[in-house]
Amino acid sequence: MNESFQAVKISEHVYWVGAIDRGIRDFHGYSIDQGTTYNAYLVLGEKVALIDTVKASFKDELLARVASVVDPSRIDYVVSNHAEMDHSGCLPAIVEAVKPEKVFASVMGVKILAEHFDVPAPLVAVKDGGSLSLRNLTLSFTETRMLHWPDSMFSYVREDGVLFSNDVFGMHLASSQRFGDEVGSWEYQAAKYYANILMPMSGLVTKLLAKMAGMDMDLRIVAPDHGPIWRKDLTEIFSLYSGWAARKPSNRALVVYDTMWESTAIMARSIASGLEAGGARVKVMPLKSSERSDIATELLDAGALVVGSPTMNNNLLPTVADSLTYLKGLKPKGLIGAAFGSYGWSGESVAQVRDYLTAMGVDMAREDVRVKFVPREADLDQCVALGSSIAAALREL
Ligand code: FEO
Repeated sequence: MNESFQAVKISEHVYWVGAIDRGIRDFHGYSIDQGTTYNAYLVLGEKVALIDTVKASFKDELLARVASVVDPSRIDYVVSNHAEMDHSGCLPAIVEAVKPEKVFASVMGVKILAEHFDVPAPLVAVKDGGSLSLRNLTLSFTETRMLHWPDSMFSYVREDGVLFSNDVFGMHLASSQRFGDEVGSWEYQAAKYYANILMPMSGLVTKLLAKMAGMDMDLRIVAPDHGPIWRKDLTEIFSLYSGWAARKPSNRALVVYDTMWESTAIMARSIASGLEAGGARVKVMPLKSSERSDIATELLDAGALVVGSPTMNNNLLPTVADSLTYLKGLKPKGLIGAAFGSYGWSGESVAQVRDYLTAMGVDMAREDVRVKFVPREADLDQCVALGSSIAAALREL
């Protein structure tokens, strides 16, 4: 075993035994500029349980960290809180290597794991509210269905007050430090994670927070499947989640665009100046230098989304289609917006952008601006007026 991989003790009976992936930059379309961790945990009772595994290529790192505490063959049970492959990818190989008695998952988890792999151990379903005895410790389970997969669940070690929260309360941040109070600035990465993974399920997040508040838990540590572990002030991450889930639109507007020969860029600047003159805070995000997942993050508290594209070959630009497709899937609520762009002869892009935004549920009550070739003064006045009109609507929120 590689002795450079050590477990980290997080409570009397629980160790972090995950893996650090510093090189990853794309997570199914979500750009992660700080890498990530795949957190797995060892619960060392009289019976030994492994909570989640890691991405397949990090199996040896997981086993080495387990071996720094206990012989991996002592693992009696594996609990799968979430079947996505960043947490289950090496499950069959781990089961093959350590031969646990059983693998536990939610009812949907058992089904989904069986649809992914031939797991060489009995797969046993646990119910919402069910528990598993490790003799001197008890693991209890709470279904968190659709946060963010149908199988997702929390596990809780009652005696240590440790909650294993799968992806919820996590973030993509590779660090040598394991705890939130050690890693310095993490708020943007936590917001980015929420926006790109959990935003479509915000209603369920609100319900989950209410359910957690009513649960009989002496919660001391929250241990997610990515990024830092929360101890000390747990209310900070809970309160951020509560705010993001509520998504109260502010008077911030995003102006997102791509451009061919600068006409759409010039329009974007005029729209931004109209927004600013009307008292809105504005973030202009040119797609040549902005990632779709950062735009999603900005949408957590934005009140308006204004999107521009020139027309090329009867279409909006592929970069704009890419971002709009991605953002539509994240279902941001309560936005107002408009479309704009330049064209040479056919000019379909603005209507196409409008269709995307309409499909996202954006309030598109304002008239779009569409300009032939190069905007003139009157066109730019129209852009400024569009910005002012959106700013006025934001003032009324
Ligand atoms: Fe971290 Fe949904 O997997």
